Amino acid sequence: MLRRLRHETADYLANELRNLLPDQNLISAENLVAVLEPPKKLDHGHLAFPVFPLAKQLRQPPALVASQIAALLKSRIDANAESTKAIGLVRAEPAGGFLNLTFSDESMQSRLFHAVATEGDRLGYSSLGRGQRVVIDYSSPNVAKPMHVGHLRATAIGQAIRNLAETQGYEVTGLNHLGDWGVQFGKLAWAFREWGSQYDFKGQPFKSLFDIYVRFHEEAEKNPELEAKGSLVFKELEQGSRDVEEIWKMFVKISLVEYQRLWDLLGVKHDLVRGESFYNDRLKPVEDMLAGKGLLKESEGAVVVDLGEEMPPCLIRKSDGASLYATRDLASAMYRMTELKADLNLYVVGFDQSLHFKQVFKVLELAGFDWVKNCHHISFGLYRFKEGMKMSTRKGNVIFLEDVLNQAIDRTAKLIAAKNPLLSAAEQKSIAQDVGVGAVIFGDLLFDRVKNVEFDWERILSFEGDSGPYVQYMYVRCASLVRKYKDERGKIPAQTDVACLSQPDERELIRILLGYDETLAAAFRIFKPNILAQYLLEVCAAFSRFYHNNRILGEASEIETSRMALVQATQAVLFQGLRNLSIRAPEKM
Ligand code: ARG
Repeated sequence: MLRRLRHETADYLANELRNLLPDQNLISAENLVAVLEPPKKLDHGHLAFPVFPLAKQLRQPPALVASQIAALLKSRIDANAESTKAIGLVRAEPAGGFLNLTFSDESMQSRLFHAVATEGDRLGYSSLGRGQRVVIDYSSPNVAKPMHVGHLRATAIGQAIRNLAETQGYEVTGLNHLGDWGVQFGKLAWAFREWGSQYDFKGQPFKSLFDIYVRFHEEAEKNPELEAKGSLVFKELEQGSRDVEEIWKMFVKISLVEYQRLWDLLGVKHDLVRGESFYNDRLKPVEDMLAGKGLLKESEGAVVVDLGEEMPPCLIRKSDGASLYATRDLASAMYRMTELKADLNLYVVGFDQSLHFKQVFKVLELAGFDWVKNCHHISFGLYRFKEGMKMSTRKGNVIFLEDVLNQAIDRTAKLIAAKNPLLSAAEQKSIAQDVGVGAVIFGDLLFDRVKNVEFDWERILSFEGDSGPYVQYMYVRCASLVRKYKDERGKIPAQTDVACLSQPDERELIRILLGYDETLAAAFRIFKPNILAQYLLEVCAAFSRFYHNNRILGEASEIETSRMALVQATQAVLFQGLRNLSIRAPEKM
């Protein structure tokens, strides 16, 4: 794919330009790999080579250098030189300080078809991260609370970044930093003992759990004594009371079963649950370590690390002895870096927690841990509501993730039943699930994660325009063409037996498809899945032009088979691209 072309071209240029410069470093293959750029438009060739640094060395105007190199390469092309033929270079045009390189349609096409035929599920993967581990924390909900649309972002973005890390050859450990500790569990346990028997914990465990959670907060508003009672039960839990621990464990279990259902639906996979409680016996060592480095300070009875003018101090222990979210994250970072041996430690968490992560990272820096530079808060914007309302689980005015998914699935089911009534009920159901859920995930991933998104039922469930269902629909088109071809003519021939495609729409589609590997790399480099989502839309647009302007299935001919090979390549890129966003591609819809 494009990476390969870039490397081959860099080697080639390094070789050809060897006699040009005293400073060979400037034209080393490694150097050239980094500067070659694919232009936005095919008119400017497949790769552009900026000659500015070279021109500076030679003390000549860039345009002159570009035209000199162009002349050199042209003479090689005209002489049909072996090395030039081997990489398929057919044109070298100067354009200001750039040199635009164009490769033969045949060579580009065969690069694409070869990758698709040989790379399978690892299409476009790189080995950049080989031997390195990425630890990534995503979704991480809070026990007893249903996931709401806010968690959709932490879940969809996190899982996509996880998948992207895998495409770059990293070993990945996905962590669920479950919110499973804190005084609220004392309150809940108190509520459970008091009212548990009035609820259907056997039949509807999670709903019952959430109901007593809401009830506790309602009643505590009228009767503040309940808070103190809850705190007391939490003390019991902290001091190791078996009874309370059993209740707490049950809460955790009920919640995980509930979350797992949604994760299965969303294609989300964690490798380890390392909830906040996991760090209980690692907090004291953290505090001792900070004390040993002279970083701790008392402040109004609490223990803090002073962080100077820039930000408020980081609370390590409250005056009542309770440990804090931040202390647990200090422990969790140390665990991930030293015990899990992370090379990169990522937290996919909303931007409202930016200060928290800044403080945690700063404390680690002050403690002298150089590795903190490899810890990153991958923050994202929040869902905003038109009415200016803010979500609060306690008050009950939230939009639950499950409701969003169910509505999406229901709506899709209706559309499918109307459009495609001949599908079996089972098929309709599975398509409605893939497409409904896909719409929600794609809708979330399409925008740059740092921006806030306005929550809009219409948009999130839309099938038109730039949406998940649109991409899935293009995939289905490809799949059905391939099926039809196979029914009529058998296998799609090997790439060696097909003719060269050289119509503008075809060349453009090939160019875009070849960029798939570098799209994956770019999306991971800045941890932005929207780059992949946007790219898939570009593929769809190019495919749709190709599809409308060309007859694909016609009479048996070399052109027909070549076009089918291109359809198959598009199908592969769409399938793999969606898979890396954790979206399924149905065969029909
Ligand atoms: N449970 C937290 C929440 O729902 C997110 C946890 C994020 N991870 C972390 N290591 N702090 O807001």
